[in-house]
Amino acid sequence: MVSTKKLFDICDNNDKKITNDNENAQQISEIGNIEFKNISFGYSLDKNVFENLNLTIEHNKFNAFCGYSGGGKSTILNLLLKLYEPKSGVILMNSKNIREWTTKSIINKVGYVGQDSIVFDETVRDNIQVGIDDILSAQQIDSLMEKVNGRDV
Ligand SMILES: Nc1ncnc2c1ncn2[C@@H]1O[C@H](COP(=O)(O)OP(=O)(O)OP(=O)(O)O)[C@@H](O)[C@H]1O
Ligand SMILES: [Mg+2]
Repeated sequence: MVSTKKLFDICDNNDKKITNDNENAQQISEIGNIEFKNISFGYSLDKNVFENLNLTIEHNKFNAFCGYSGGGKSTILNLLLKLYEPKSGVILMNSKNIREWTTKSIINKVGYVGQDSIVFDETVRDNIQVGIDDILSAQQIDSLMEKVNGRDV
């Protein structure tokens, strides 16, 4: 349970850091090798999805995670995108703890099509623009929309 005041405080304070980036986190320019080292994680305190998971995802290799529903495939992505933090263990990206890389720079390098797509009740253009307006200018987005015949949607 969170007080409404606290929620509004967070929404109003654009400067406040609400990511789990380290103080001096840097921007990652290219994602190389990724390693999960002894990762234990669960969404609740009493139940873990992973216990001491060790995994290496090599740069420039095609990797696929296969497994039963609820096995933890999407959870691996959630941890990589720093949407959740491991209970223990460390995730390395380019040999550095992902906490040393800014969440924003990681997210900007990952193309993620989730199972449940979130589409905001706005124009297609607005949906494309969310979160990338510092990467693509309004003109670049216009030109993109033009190419896919989406100028008016
Ligand atoms: N946001 C969440 N909060 C609480 N529990 C969750 C959450 N997301 C997933 N889980 C639970 O964590 C476990 C792993 O789920 P996950 O979605 O990673 O599996 P998956 O391998 O991607 O499954 P699927 O093949 O159905 O996509 C499951 O028991 C699931 O119910
Ligand atoms: Mg999944």
